[in-house]
Amino acid sequence: MPGSAVLQLAPLEALYDYGHGGEDFGTAVREGLSLGQKKLSAKFLYDARGSALFEEICTLPEYYPTRTEISLLEKHVTEIAELAGRGASVVEFGSGASVKVRLLLDTLAAPDWYVPVDISRQHLVASAKDLATQYPDLTVLPICADYTRAFDLPRSVRAPILGFFPGSTIGNFTHGEARAFLQQAASSLGAGAGLVLGADLMKAPDILRAAYNDAAGVTAAFNLNLLARINRELDGDFELSAFRHEGRLLEDEGRIEMHLVSQRAQVVRAAGKTFAFREGESIHTEYSHKYTIDQVQTLARSGGWEPVRSWVDDQSLFSIHFLAAR
Ligand SMILES: C[S@@+](CC[C@H](N)C(=O)[O-])C[C@H]1O[C@@H](n2cnc3c(N)ncnc32)[C@H](O)[C@@H]1O
Repeated sequence: MPGSAVLQLAPLEALYDYGHGGEDFGTAVREGLSLGQKKLSAKFLYDARGSALFEEICTLPEYYPTRTEISLLEKHVTEIAELAGRGASVVEFGSGASVKVRLLLDTLAAPDWYVPVDISRQHLVASAKDLATQYPDLTVLPICADYTRAFDLPRSVRAPILGFFPGSTIGNFTHGEARAFLQQAASSLGAGAGLVLGADLMKAPDILRAAYNDAAGVTAAFNLNLLARINRELDGDFELSAFRHEGRLLEDEGRIEMHLVSQRAQVVRAAGKTFAFREGESIHTEYSHKYTIDQVQTLARSGGWEPVRSWVDDQSLFSIHFLAAR
């Protein structure tokens, strides 16, 4: 595929690596830390250490999304498999540890290919190898890429194609970015494709604040790892103890924002530049938008998808949606 390095890594069919993970980190840091509101994309939270910390977040008592989405998938996976059809190829965006997809792969009739797409290369390869070993009849072809940028699916991935975008990762986008992502996914998966989308729902503020400010401090470690990553990869001199994690709820905007707040006035060097911080000034590192069912369905339509069915748990914490490409 043009633009990607193709590596043979048994038991995988291959690994397609677009190199998106490394190429723009330095530029993003130089530009993002020069803004009035300092800002870095959430995709940079996921190096190998960040991915491992995210897996730990998924097991926290305060972090309801993972267990709620898994129980929703368990409950409705037969219906999803029927909607997807026989011999489906599954393309997962932001596949992480590839845990939830096993529910689909175990239930779909004769799944053909599994194509996990993720920016966190080491974690992607390890998870894909694990899965390929456990599902020997499946062709597993990981793609290391930024899924907001153009990448090609291997030609041999045949219809029916089922996209999978769980974890409410769509909430990391602004609404405009989410629409653009859905449009791109519709065109790369093609007419007739399905998409199983997980989306977190708006709920009581105390549940949301606790989920993003856990008592064990794992979310704080996940967020602060971004500064450690800058130190490791971009010759930075961030003092981690001089920053504090904050998961802020912006109720009117319908989202949580993660910030790293400077505890004092300081000057930091990274990626060949210096950056001044006032006491209390923050770097915005992640959006996590929360939706209503109507909002998800409107967003899906604007992105070229027709909502077919939606499922919500008894406490209305989380939702999953089966969408069909128009
Ligand atoms: C919130 S985690 C969800 C992981 C898993 N799908 C789940 O539901 O638990 C987001 C995943 O998307 C990946 N990711 C984030 N931004 C990305 C991007 N722009 N392109 C590709 N992968 C990305 C991360 O590496 C991570 O594995």
